[in-house]
Amino acid sequence: MRSDHGGPGDRPDGGRPRTTAVVLAGGTGQRVGLSIPKQLLKIAGKAVIEHTLAVFEKSELVDDILVLMAPGHVPDVERIVARAGLRKVSRVIEGGATRNETTERAIAVLGEGLTDGEERHVLFHDAVRPLLSQRVISDCVRALARYRAVDVAIPSADTIIVTRTHGDDGEFITEVPDRSRLRRGQTPQAFHLSTIREAYRLAARDPNFQATDDCSVVLRYLPDEPVHVVRGDEWNMKVTQPVDVFVADKLYQLASTAAPPPRSAEDAYRRALAGTTMVVFGGSYGIGRDLARLAESYGARVHALGRSTTGTDVRDPRAIAEALSRAHAETGRIDHVVNTAGVLRIGPLAETDSETVEEALRVNYLAPVEIARASHRYLAKTGGQLLLYTSSSYTRGRAEYSLYSSAKAAVVNLTQALADEWAVDRVRVNCVNPERTATPMRERAFGTEPAGTLLSSEAVARTSLDVLLSPLTGHVVDVRQQDPTADASAAESFERALAASLDAESARERTT
Ligand code: CTP
Repeated sequence: MRSDHGGPGDRPDGGRPRTTAVVLAGGTGQRVGLSIPKQLLKIAGKAVIEHTLAVFEKSELVDDILVLMAPGHVPDVERIVARAGLRKVSRVIEGGATRNETTERAIAVLGEGLTDGEERHVLFHDAVRPLLSQRVISDCVRALARYRAVDVAIPSADTIIVTRTHGDDGEFITEVPDRSRLRRGQTPQAFHLSTIREAYRLAARDPNFQATDDCSVVLRYLPDEPVHVVRGDEWNMKVTQPVDVFVADKLYQLASTAAPPPRSAEDAYRRALAGTTMVVFGGSYGIGRDLARLAESYGARVHALGRSTTGTDVRDPRAIAEALSRAHAETGRIDHVVNTAGVLRIGPLAETDSETVEEALRVNYLAPVEIARASHRYLAKTGGQLLLYTSSSYTRGRAEYSLYSSAKAAVVNLTQALADEWAVDRVRVNCVNPERTATPMRERAFGTEPAGTLLSSEAVARTSLDVLLSPLTGHVVDVRQQDPTADASAAESFERALAASLDAESARERTT
């Protein structure tokens, strides 16, 4: 971390003043209800606050970042900052008892060392809004050239009602404001430091002062100051309730598996895979073979292992360990371990002999367990990834699929458990869930099926590669047939941009 003052923000060009992002992380997140503050919760493999800090780190418009963290957790943030190599974070200090007290502390710190008449621009942002876009940051910074106070908001899709509580009878509507004028406030809220400081100075004299954000402090105590509103973004959600953790996780998943931008994609794959080693169990045909070929075409050293080709039987733990050891001996590293081996045995369980039961469980469940066990030591050295495969039947068992679907459900649970267990080693573990795919395994079970009804194994291989190169961990990534009516909307381009930034981050992580 560098010191608080000086650096790229002191613009010799006399342009805009130094711009500081203030990340408000003083809360504990009671509504999510966990034992750690929600900003330390892992979403898509990283603490929420790390995602938020990375957004500001990336912005060319932000000169430095000040973090106000929940008491007792400052060292957690310092560790995150050091490990992620975030150079713009100048200080991490404790927040206050309320959000507004946290802002007040930030204002006091930001005022230190300012020369007379020197202005500073500040963006106050909730740490728990990790999906902030660069567009919103840039609109806020631009707006500060004209206005001294700026809010970010989006229209409300819901009708908002005002209520009053009548004792034990509960709540009753008193007013339904015109929805067309209602907005939902987000952050950042951006200010000239002198303006927000003055608003808080006046607020401090008011014994009834109460607020949950910073723009309302300006509105109330500096009523002549216009507060400009910048268009926010639906993705810029605040992780507040338990369900938000799930939604945010899914949004990252969507973003990082969205198609990369066409022109630079080939280069991006090559850059990400050159010099890496991949081991594919079940690599002699189907998805495994296609993934091996694809990765090889981008410069990865691939060991595609199969019973029929290299004599590697995933039912034999010794064969697994030996295969990994051989792969490691050749290049001195293993970055990605993939297991696509599987058997599909359909039929009523009561009529299945115990040999078939044993084989199905060995291949579909014990093999992933043994592959995981044997891979950990290699992947921990490279911060690599283990990729497993499940089936859409994992969410609900189906008649005649009992062995297959229960083992695939176990693989999902295994993925989640190991992602958690191995996060300290920066080893990612994910699971691909392809819908019906044209593979030799499927053809053996169902014969030839009508063209166009199945996913191609190449498409599943491509998504698998995207998952391997993403920072995701603990995810089940669904692969579905492209919906031809899907609208390539703004959301998609946002997803692409985010995907590119996530890819860049994952590349950086691999080199550290
Ligand atoms: N915040 C803060 N200092 C506080 C309280 C909140 O900096 N004393 C920050 C939170 O860390 C969060 C943002 O303000 O980034 C929005 O807070 P919110 O999520 O509404 O509140 P929390 O206190 O974090 O959560 P809860 O109300 O569920 O306890």
